[in-house]
Amino acid sequence: MDKETKKDQKDGSLNEEKQNVLSESEVENYSEMEKLRRYLAQKLRLVDLPANDQNNESQQLVLSKLNLDGIVEYIKENTNCKIITMAGAGISTSAGIPDFRSPSSGLYHKLDKYNLPHPQAIFELDFFMKNPEPFFTLAKELLPEGFKPTISHYFIRLLSEKGLLLRHYTQNIDTLERVAGLSSDKLVEAHGTFHTGHCLKCRAPYTLPWMKEGIIPKCEECNEGVVKPDIIFFGETLPERFQILADRDFTQADLLIIMGSSLVVQPFASLIDRVRNTCPRLLINNEKVGTQDRLSRFLGLRQGLVFDVKSAHGGRDVAWLGDCDTGCQLLADKLNWGDELRALMQREHERLKVEDKSDN
Ligand code: OAD
Repeated sequence: MDKETKKDQKDGSLNEEKQNVLSESEVENYSEMEKLRRYLAQKLRLVDLPANDQNNESQQLVLSKLNLDGIVEYIKENTNCKIITMAGAGISTSAGIPDFRSPSSGLYHKLDKYNLPHPQAIFELDFFMKNPEPFFTLAKELLPEGFKPTISHYFIRLLSEKGLLLRHYTQNIDTLERVAGLSSDKLVEAHGTFHTGHCLKCRAPYTLPWMKEGIIPKCEECNEGVVKPDIIFFGETLPERFQILADRDFTQADLLIIMGSSLVVQPFASLIDRVRNTCPRLLINNEKVGTQDRLSRFLGLRQGLVFDVKSAHGGRDVAWLGDCDTGCQLLADKLNWGDELRALMQREHERLKVEDKSDN
């Protein structure tokens, strides 16, 4: 080791030491903040006290292991486990449908030709009212036709067949959950569907085949309004079914599985915080998302996923990072359902192929 390296290391460790020692004013600030945090905790009942202030079960590890094996053990031990799944565009990318925000492949990175003020404008109601053409041009590419559900979709169906699925909440408008055979009572399409549409002026209803005629569908009833598919745009409220069932379901769930979403769009993203404190949450995604931010951590708010077991709210969240289909198949394998899942997808894809042929 040369002199410089030794000096750098020494300086480094000094800096580290310095960082660990708080100055008097920092100590004062810290205790003021701590007082504020406790004040909020007690008065507003908004926040939770740290682990040593409470003696409730939520502060203990809910899972024996904070990994997929821990989740598998938990499912096996809870024979009547009520599972909620939440999904985003990532469960459909392997079917050939792009997600929105992945660098370079995401839809929002490929909209230059539309000359939008910003990428999300294509799904904003105000912008659509003024200029619906970009949306309808893009819609031709997004129409749910010819795409086949993925292993992730069939995994959700399998959960349902096993009697373990309380509900599946999806942000996707590709309808692949329906194509995969998930029954509509188990499904909440939080961002609506392409299958039906309404005139924005007189609310006359239309079907997808009708809307596909021409570029911008104009209402035949009032001859004025544009007919918009019933997918939820930014600026619109989510379907009533979402509001009602989310209130009812999340407090009952024993396990939450989140797949293929960046968890950035509200109110969908905050559903993860509506399960009980003792409900484990498994994220299957390419990247860690929905994690607790620093302010929430500081205030002790139960917001966001906490993968750090040492945190006051740690001990129940698991991140499995990678491809959704691989994660779902692995989970199914570990639950001894692997062959069943593979066979279900193969059988269903064959059935869809036959249907496609007879339609053409
Ligand atoms: P995003 O594109 O924001 O996020 C997709 C997430 O899935 C990212 O974290 C990706 O890394 C991950 N991902 C992609 N492919 C994957 C794969 N094969 N395996 C595992 N992970 C994968 O999509 P959403 O979260 O669905 O709203 O976006 C939410 C909403 O934003 C959409 O419903 C849409 C959009 O604006 C409206 O149009 C109203």
